[in-house]
Amino acid sequence: MSNILEIKNVSHTYGLGTPFAKEALSQVNLNIEEGDFVGLVGHTGSGKSTLAQCLNGLIIPTEGDVVVEGVSLKESKNLKEIRKRVGMVFQYPEYQLFEETVARDIAFGPKNLGLSKEEVEARVDFAMDLVQLNRDLKDRSPFELSGGQKRRVAIAGILAMKPKVLILDEPTAGLDPHGRDEILGEIKSLYDQGGLTIIMVSHSMEEVARLTKRMIVMNHGKVAMDGTPRELFRQGDKLKDLSLTTPQVTKVMEELKKRGADVSTDAITIDEAYEELVRYLEGGHHA
Ligand SMILES: Nc1ncnc2c1ncn2[C@@H]1O[C@H](COP(=O)(O)OP(=O)(O)OP(=O)(O)O)[C@@H](O)[C@H]1O
Ligand SMILES: [Mg+2]
Repeated sequence: MSNILEIKNVSHTYGLGTPFAKEALSQVNLNIEEGDFVGLVGHTGSGKSTLAQCLNGLIIPTEGDVVVEGVSLKESKNLKEIRKRVGMVFQYPEYQLFEETVARDIAFGPKNLGLSKEEVEARVDFAMDLVQLNRDLKDRSPFELSGGQKRRVAIAGILAMKPKVLILDEPTAGLDPHGRDEILGEIKSLYDQGGLTIIMVSHSMEEVARLTKRMIVMNHGKVAMDGTPRELFRQGDKLKDLSLTTPQVTKVMEELKKRGADVSTDAITIDEAYEELVRYLEGGHHA
């Protein structure tokens, strides 16, 4: 697998050279493989959003470089080349909807790429289908839609630019459980259709564990942990030190083990825990 994104020794200080200077990222080195689905977690202020914004040139880091498909952020004279490849969905993206109709809102990005009218229209249909928005909604005002639908319009607007890398900053923030499951299901099915590399920023370890293959934990602007969700959850104590927690089911399995049940503590979903308990009980044990 080749790297689609390379983050090379990236440091970023807000307000550099002022009395308010604040180092948000410190010497971050990461390679992201094409086609991967990466979760970026960490407590508040750990640098997740700053890093996400460096990846599409919204923030030019004060040190280091980001290379997207061989295009360097620092050397590139035209950030458009980067932004075409890396689409960024901000936290609460629905606040950035502003056009009178859903279709016009989704068309905004592709229009700015200088595509023909026909191509822009095709892109709008393509993106609406991808996020499973009924095309009947095209002429509606985005402001009349539900919270989950608004967010899907915002995501469609980014997908209409056909990025290779999609970055989602806290895509479920502020949604009720139903809206949250809706958006997570959407993101999963987008990924399963192939062709996209996704980086999802989240506060929720469980959410990230459910979807992603690789989890990167940020702490004070540095990468503190990096591995599969399972590898990370095995290090419960280290996560606790970073004020992060393992999923409830993992905790339950750890507790059972502590009390003498010979169960594996690998489970990170209810289904996995269930299977492990069945295996254990069928072995003739009593919980
Ligand atoms: N525009 C800014 N000016 C000055 N400091 C900033 C700015 N944006 C963020 N910071 C600071 O940089 C650090 C990293 O912030 P960042 O927003 O990247 O963290 P985060 O992990 O996304 O946090 P959250 O989970 O709250 O979204 C924090 O200490 C934050 O206060
Ligand atoms: Mg943030």
